[in-house]
Amino acid sequence: MFLLGIDIGSSSVKVALVEGESGKCVASAFHPKKEMKITAPRAGWAEQDPEQWWKHLKRAMAEALRESGVSPESIGAVGISYQMHGLVVVDKALKPLRPAIIWCDSRAVEIGDTAFEAIGKDKCLATLLNSPGNFTASKLKWIKDNEPDIYNRIYKIMLPGDYIAMKLTGEPKTTVSGLSEGIFWDFERNELSREVLDYFGFDESLVSETAPTFGPQGTLPPEASQELGLAEGTKVCYRAGDQPNNAFSLNVMNPGEVAATAGTSGVVYGISDRLAFDRQSRVNTFAHVNHRQEAKRLGVLLCVNGTGILNSWLRENIGPENFSYEEMNALAERIPVGAEGMSVLPFGNGAERILNNRDIGAQIGGTLNFNIHTRAHLFRAAQEGIAFAFKYGMEIMAAMGTEAKVIRAGHANMFLSPIFRQTLASVTGASIELYDTDGAVGAARGAGIGAGYYKNTREAFRNLKIIETVRPDASGAELFREAYGRWTNQLAKFL
Ligand code: XUL
Repeated sequence: MFLLGIDIGSSSVKVALVEGESGKCVASAFHPKKEMKITAPRAGWAEQDPEQWWKHLKRAMAEALRESGVSPESIGAVGISYQMHGLVVVDKALKPLRPAIIWCDSRAVEIGDTAFEAIGKDKCLATLLNSPGNFTASKLKWIKDNEPDIYNRIYKIMLPGDYIAMKLTGEPKTTVSGLSEGIFWDFERNELSREVLDYFGFDESLVSETAPTFGPQGTLPPEASQELGLAEGTKVCYRAGDQPNNAFSLNVMNPGEVAATAGTSGVVYGISDRLAFDRQSRVNTFAHVNHRQEAKRLGVLLCVNGTGILNSWLRENIGPENFSYEEMNALAERIPVGAEGMSVLPFGNGAERILNNRDIGAQIGGTLNFNIHTRAHLFRAAQEGIAFAFKYGMEIMAAMGTEAKVIRAGHANMFLSPIFRQTLASVTGASIELYDTDGAVGAARGAGIGAGYYKNTREAFRNLKIIETVRPDASGAELFREAYGRWTNQLAKFL
C-alpha cells in the first residue's frame, strides 16, 4: 500500500508518495516550480488564493502519479500538512469569499494586542497559553470590523489545511491542534474558548466540528477524485500544521525533544508536558499532534518569519541572473565568521513574534567599509543573522523550560547550507541532526498511523535515516559569541 502526503506551503505545494512497507518515498513533486506568489495589497498584508493551492496540488499530484507509475487504487490513505495560522472564509457553497489571509500577514496585530489586554493577560495565558496575537481569531475579527458584508456571508472559517481537507472530502472539519494555533482553544477547559468567542463576538457555528489529528477525517468524493486522479473513497487520515508536522516527521513527540525548520520562515519547536507560556507571548505554545488532556504534549514554538525568504530575496535581487544557492554559499564561505563586522537582521517578512509582533523590516548594519565589504559578506551575514535570530528566540524558550541540546531537522532548505547550520550549532551549543525526510513524507507517515496501517510511531519511523550531525565548533565559539553580541547590539537599536 502507498501513503500520500500533501504539504501546503507558502512557496509551493508538495506531494510525496511513500511505500508503506519499506517507508521509502517513491515519488515527490511540487508546484509551482518558481515560488508561489504572496500578494500584499497593502504593506504588512499577505494573502494567497486558496484555489491556487488546489490548482498547484492537482499539478503536483499529476506529476507524482505520472513519474512513479503508482496506481491510484493502491493509495491507502492521505495526510495533510499546511501553513499555519491563516484564515480562509467560505460561504454555504464552501467557496472562498475572499483571498486567504496567511500566517505572515500583520494586519491583526493591534486587534490581538487589544484583546490580550481586554480579556486579561493572566486569563489568556492560563487558558490559551498565548495572546490572541496576530493569529487566526484576530484575523477573523479584522474581517468582521473591516469587511462586514463578507463577514455576514461566512458559513465556516478554516485554516489552510482545513480548506484543502474540505476540498478532498467535501466536509468542513478542523482539529484541536488547529484550533489551538488559531487561538480558539481553551487548554484549561479542553474546549473552544468562550472568552475568545464572546470577546470577538463570533458565533460558535462558524467553527467546524473537530476530527482527530490521526484517524478518519473523510473520504474522497467523485469530483475530488477526478480532479486529482485519485480513487474515489480514498481516506484522509491525518492533518497537522506544518510545524507540528515537521516535528512529527522527525519523530519529535516527547518532552525534551526539539525540531527545527528553515524554509520561508524558520521555527524551533520543542515538546513540553507542561502548559508553559511566555508572558509576552514572543514564543507560542500550541497543541502537538499527540496532545491529550490526560497526557499533555505541547509544542513550544519560536518562529522567525524572515528566514529562507531573506536568502531567496538576496539570490533574486543581489545575485546575477540564474544565481544558485550553491554559488551564494560558495562565495559566503570565503568570508570569516562575523562577516568582518557586518550584521543582518532578517526581519523583512511581517511582524515578528519574538520582537513582540513588531515589524522592524530587514536591516543591513554594522560598520560597513567600502574597501572591505562585498556581496559575499552580505550573503554570509544574512545566514548568520538568521541563525542569530533563532538563538535570540531560543533564549526565550530556555527561560520557559525548553532547552535544546539536540535539534532535529530535515536535510532541506537552509539546513543544506553549511554556514547556516554551523552558525546555529556553534552559537546555541546544540548538535543538529539532519534527517532524510520532509513535511510531505511526514504527512504520508501520519496518514499511515491515522489509517491504522502503522501500529505506532516506532513502526512508522523505522526507516527514518540520519544523514549528518553538525556539532558546535568549540574552537570557534568565541568568534560566534562576539558576532552574536554585535548582532544583538544592532537589534537593540530597533527595539
Ligand atoms: C509557525 C508559522 C510559520 C508557518 C509557515 O508558527 O507561523 O512557520 O507555519 O507556514
